[in-house]
Amino acid sequence: MPAIVLVGAQWGDEGKGKATDALGAHVDYVVRFNGGNNAGHTVVIDGEKYALHLLPTGILTPTVTPVIGNGVVVDLSVLFAEIDLLNERGIDTSRLLVSANAHVIPPYNRTLDKVTERFLGSRRIGTTGRGIGPTYADKMNRVGIRVQDLFDEKILHAKVAGALALKNQVLVKVYNQRAITEDEVVEELLTFADRLRPMVADTALLLNQAVTEGKNVLLEGGQAALLDVDHGTYPFVTSSSATAGGACTGSGLPPTAIDKVIAVAKAYATRVGEGPFPTELHDEDGERLRRVGGEFGTTTGRPRRCGWYDAPVVRHAARINGVTDLVITKLDVLTGFDRIPVCVAYEVDGQRVDEIPMTQTDFHHAKPVYEWLPGWTEDVSGARDLTDLPTAARDYVQFLNDVSGAPISAVGVGQDRAATIVLRDLI
Ligand code: GDP
Ligand code: IMO
Ligand code: MG
Repeated sequence: MPAIVLVGAQWGDEGKGKATDALGAHVDYVVRFNGGNNAGHTVVIDGEKYALHLLPTGILTPTVTPVIGNGVVVDLSVLFAEIDLLNERGIDTSRLLVSANAHVIPPYNRTLDKVTERFLGSRRIGTTGRGIGPTYADKMNRVGIRVQDLFDEKILHAKVAGALALKNQVLVKVYNQRAITEDEVVEELLTFADRLRPMVADTALLLNQAVTEGKNVLLEGGQAALLDVDHGTYPFVTSSSATAGGACTGSGLPPTAIDKVIAVAKAYATRVGEGPFPTELHDEDGERLRRVGGEFGTTTGRPRRCGWYDAPVVRHAARINGVTDLVITKLDVLTGFDRIPVCVAYEVDGQRVDEIPMTQTDFHHAKPVYEWLPGWTEDVSGARDLTDLPTAARDYVQFLNDVSGAPISAVGVGQDRAATIVLRDLI
């Protein structure tokens, strides 16, 4: 089994952290390939809760080598704060590797992210304010700062000066902010250089060698298909490729190395930030999903928008990613609803459409077409086999299996690592 990709199938926060952690014992490497500390992956092991933002979830498994791939954008202050926090809790982080080609989030991009959102007003994206968008923009614009630049002070000065020449014009003249000096940026970045150096590696080379040696590599996605810069609800997306294609470019492993793509989807749907969300609820049912599901952002603490399961969204994710296995999470949160609607298609301008409409305008106007399934009242959190579930819950899982475009391999029934029904082994 060479490389396995694990991605989100909705708008993020599907439970990718828990699913990655569950596979930890079977893999040698866990690689983050996109995003940065906009992600928040929660793992609960024996009642102990860990919230990971930048570090791959594999950091919690002693036998795993965790890797921050070239496709990630790294806020170095967050990286070391996260490492320190885990060390205080007795977690060994010494195996961590960081790609020399990963981009760093310089302080001016955190500022730019926040002031741009303010400037956009009602057209804002609802970003996490972590500088993610401006840093990916710099990367594409070829004015980014990479991890390796920290080890050549002359180059670092030149690159920061080059970036600031334009950034300061924008900060001062457009956003009325103070100018940032080259020296303060370089000084901040260099404070991390000595600590960072031993972790830095040619991770693309290393991961390819690992695959050749028959090692198992798990590529852990941040964000999700509908937040993907190409395949999501643009412009209400993040700025990276959060789908399986991004796992290749963001790690340096070729498509031919990947033979399994696992997508994670909640048994309902949530979204943080702005943008279309056809099944969104603005009523007591939505409140209840938020309360019972604990739907508040791991990263920003914002309440997540909640709604019913949207099958065309997951089918889209299944297609774009080539999903081989679907993991459904949080089935337990649906306990106690009389009837549970599942969106199977949309109505756009009076017409039924079975898949996500081609244009964003139509998606904004899409109204869900629901099939109503019977609910259940029994506590399902102790179930470890499908036969442990009440019939209505089993039928619900079977229905999702039939409409989601990929077969379900596991169903989550609680936060803890052990609270999962495994239908077929993922590895
Ligand atoms: P990620 O970003 O995809 O890793 O997901 P988050 O960690 O941001 O959000 C998912 C939340 O749901 C976390 O608090 C998880 O502990 C929790 N969770 C994951 N799977 C389940 C499940 O099957 N049932 C319940 N009740 N909670 C779950
Ligand atoms: P995980 O990995 C949910 C959302 C933000 C915003 C949009 C752009 O935990 O699933 P950004 O700061 O990336 O420029 O914000 O994307 N967003 C997420 N929503 N889960 C995430 O990560 C997210 N990462 C970004 O809320 O709408
Ligand atoms: Mg999250």
